[in-house]
Amino acid sequence: MKKTIKDLSDLKGKRVLVRVDFNVPLKEGRITDDTRIRAALPTIEHLRQKGARVILVSHLGRPKGVTENLRLDPIAKRLSELLKNEVKKVEDSVGASVKAAVDSMKEGEVLLLENIRFYPEEEKNDPEFAKKLAENADIFVNDAFGTAHRAHASTAGVAKFLPAVAGFLMQKEIETMGKALEKPERPFVAIIGGAKVSSKIGVIENLLEKVDYLVLGGGMIFTFYRAQGYSTGKSLVEEDKIELAKKLLASGDKLVLPVDVVIGDSIEADHADGMVPPANIPSDKIGLDIGPKSAAQIAEILSKAKTVIWNGPMGVFENPAFAAGTEEVAKALAAATARGAVTIVGGGDSVAAVEKMKVADKMTHVSTGGGASLEFLEGLELPGVACLEDK
Ligand code: 3PG
Repeated sequence: MKKTIKDLSDLKGKRVLVRVDFNVPLKEGRITDDTRIRAALPTIEHLRQKGARVILVSHLGRPKGVTENLRLDPIAKRLSELLKNEVKKVEDSVGASVKAAVDSMKEGEVLLLENIRFYPEEEKNDPEFAKKLAENADIFVNDAFGTAHRAHASTAGVAKFLPAVAGFLMQKEIETMGKALEKPERPFVAIIGGAKVSSKIGVIENLLEKVDYLVLGGGMIFTFYRAQGYSTGKSLVEEDKIELAKKLLASGDKLVLPVDVVIGDSIEADHADGMVPPANIPSDKIGLDIGPKSAAQIAEILSKAKTVIWNGPMGVFENPAFAAGTEEVAKALAAATARGAVTIVGGGDSVAAVEKMKVADKMTHVSTGGGASLEFLEGLELPGVACLEDK
């Protein structure tokens, strides 16, 4: 258990450096999804109420040096609206101008530093740079679960120089997902989708040990079908993972593969060309979604589940012609939540799917982490969590 901001007494007047993940999507300078900003509000509000001086630090994108369209000004504006209080922003992340701005802050005020990745030292986790960042603060709070898998100066390095605790978002992410992994109510079901087996091996191997059923979907199923000896037409197959798929299939009876597949000509096709069982995929077609029998089979499994983790879509859900499988799974998860099951959606694409399908608020927990939740589900230690003080 890590210390959290609840364990800090007397925050009045303290300079609290909060690492947040405000790496939000932008289109022509406008924020298209502010979920990550809203997710940090409980921590910010708590610190303000306690009279702290709140200094926020985040990255945005992957700049190489100062990049005008990746400055954090649109974020300061949106955060000011959400807090109904002006959030000041500085043009730097360390040094004299930041010190001057912090010195002039009143209790309860919020200051946003400039995109921390404008400094190459950030990603190198340069200790001198981390020290400079720490110089303008008394306490470090990490609330950036989405960036917790990075060992950078502002996510981990800075914790060497300041008392370091978790914010509420960080706490919620690691407690909800941690409890599901360690003490799940059973039946415990994982649904793992996505295009490639290679990017999900760690998750599949870690979860197979813990779950009662592991349902597979998405492009990776074709590598498994090949392992079963089926020909898969033009579907995506990772030839070098067929042996691994064979081993996983032989490891027990927890793996559940879809029993029918929606086929089409390409991922951009405006229509599907029907459904086939895995043994009958035509040589000139691509499998692009799971079929209705598979979706019904998954819904049946989920109807009894008490804990569900979903990572990765079932098909090419961005294209309406191949979105039905992912939609049905999203609906079945929402129904499971309504029945009292714990449902967790982690990973960028499945989160995008539940948001697109407007069922995000019908899940117990939708993680703000993409890569971070994947690594968490793989059972890896996240540097941004490991650096925090234990209770
Ligand atoms: C994310 O969006 O997954 C995080 O903000 C981390 O960003 P990164 O992959 O650029 O480190």
